[in-house]
Amino acid sequence: MSLDWDVRMQTLLLNFVLATFLFLSAIQDGNAGITSSFIRSEWPSVDIPLDNEVFAVSNGHNAPQQVHITQGDYDGKAVIISWVTPDEPGPSKVQYGKSDNKYQFSAEGTVTNYTFYQYKSGYIHHCLIEGLEYNTKYYYRIGSGDSSREFWFVTPPIVGRDVPYKFGIIGDLGQTYNSLSTLDHYMKSGAQTVLFVGDLSYADRYQYNDVGIRWDSWGRFLERSAAYQPWIWSAGNHEIEYMPHMGEVVPFKSYLHRYTTPYLASKSSSPLWYSIRRASAHIIVLSSYSPFVKYTPQYQWLKEELKRVDRDKTPWLIVLMHVPLYSSNEGHYMEGESMRAVFESSFIHYKVDAVFAGHVHAYERSYRFSNTDYNITSGNRYPIPDKAAPVYITVGDGGNQEGLASRFFEPQPEYSAFREASYGHSTLEIMNRTHAIYHWNRNDDGKKVPTDSFVLHNQYWGKNRRRRKLKKNFVSNVVGRLATDL
Ligand SMILES: [Fe+2]
Repeated sequence: MSLDWDVRMQTLLLNFVLATFLFLSAIQDGNAGITSSFIRSEWPSVDIPLDNEVFAVSNGHNAPQQVHITQGDYDGKAVIISWVTPDEPGPSKVQYGKSDNKYQFSAEGTVTNYTFYQYKSGYIHHCLIEGLEYNTKYYYRIGSGDSSREFWFVTPPIVGRDVPYKFGIIGDLGQTYNSLSTLDHYMKSGAQTVLFVGDLSYADRYQYNDVGIRWDSWGRFLERSAAYQPWIWSAGNHEIEYMPHMGEVVPFKSYLHRYTTPYLASKSSSPLWYSIRRASAHIIVLSSYSPFVKYTPQYQWLKEELKRVDRDKTPWLIVLMHVPLYSSNEGHYMEGESMRAVFESSFIHYKVDAVFAGHVHAYERSYRFSNTDYNITSGNRYPIPDKAAPVYITVGDGGNQEGLASRFFEPQPEYSAFREASYGHSTLEIMNRTHAIYHWNRNDDGKKVPTDSFVLHNQYWGKNRRRRKLKKNFVSNVVGRLATDL
């Protein structure tokens, strides 16, 4: 009897241990993806009328409008300030300084314009201001006389290993009431820089002269944020504007005239792909709609740029592109597959932390999965869990006039951690070299609702890498010293 009791106790204990192990494994793997059942009531997916106050033109003759800034160099000590003057070129000068109304410095910019069908753009100014101090608030003034306008921005902290910084991530924004809601919510997030994943104005949904007019209205719409903090640009399909029926066949014409990037600072040969370093992050911007296969300029540049990434200085490696490499939405399904085949193994090799994309008008986050074993003759047929892989996040949910991509494939694939067809934006708050806090915030009928969040562990510095590295250095130093002594 006593023996039976012992056996029963042992069996119970064993079952308990097994159940606990399975439960903990399930938590650790987190392999039960969530398809949110939330259905939001949304504003109609129509653009805000041009006479709405969000598109208001500044007072005064030839007053600067559509003011926006972006990082101007590799490390954040320069800013490019851009604006449009509607009637005549006017000055391209920016006056700036560290206190309001005291502009002891000035820089001279350039002016350009373009035509699109019969539309003639205003005068588009770009002015690079360099040699700024880190972590400093600068005020700046553009325009002349009574029509001049004043804004400010704050430079980032010096690039470094444990520098906290908060990025926002927005995609596929457009100019509807949903877009306005996204922008309003983002501006309350406290984030310091926007990583924009393509599809800006959706002006290409219009015809003839209205294309240019809607680029102008979008510039005025965005100014409330983009004049005060940098937006890091990447291009989407709506920037291509290949419209032969209107005689417009030069891709990215409006985008490239209006939105500049500091591509030369990262040795890129095109404004469509480049990188910057900001605080503790190295941000790589890729172009889904430029050649990227082996031997192309974009491929060659990325290969070299990945070698230049210094995780001791910038522990966080983030990639932006327009078309997602992993998406289980029916909208734009598999459109990123060719780029995945070319770049995925590099992202794993170089320990990319996160890849942000847009294009699909919904939200989706992946677990760490890869599909690099697959090839056209053998290998794993499906994506497999891979701790070395980045997290893939789609935030094509800014709120443009095309509406939501509301149909996901069922069942939810194993790589998909969370997915929901709602409008919103994300934030990535870097705490130190090992941890960052990520949030996706849904626009819930005018309120910002934190919906999906997780702690992103750094791929390079995670798992006690620093301790191991120090130990390795210590051992090699000791061995080196011993060798010298001998
Ligand atoms: Fe797109």
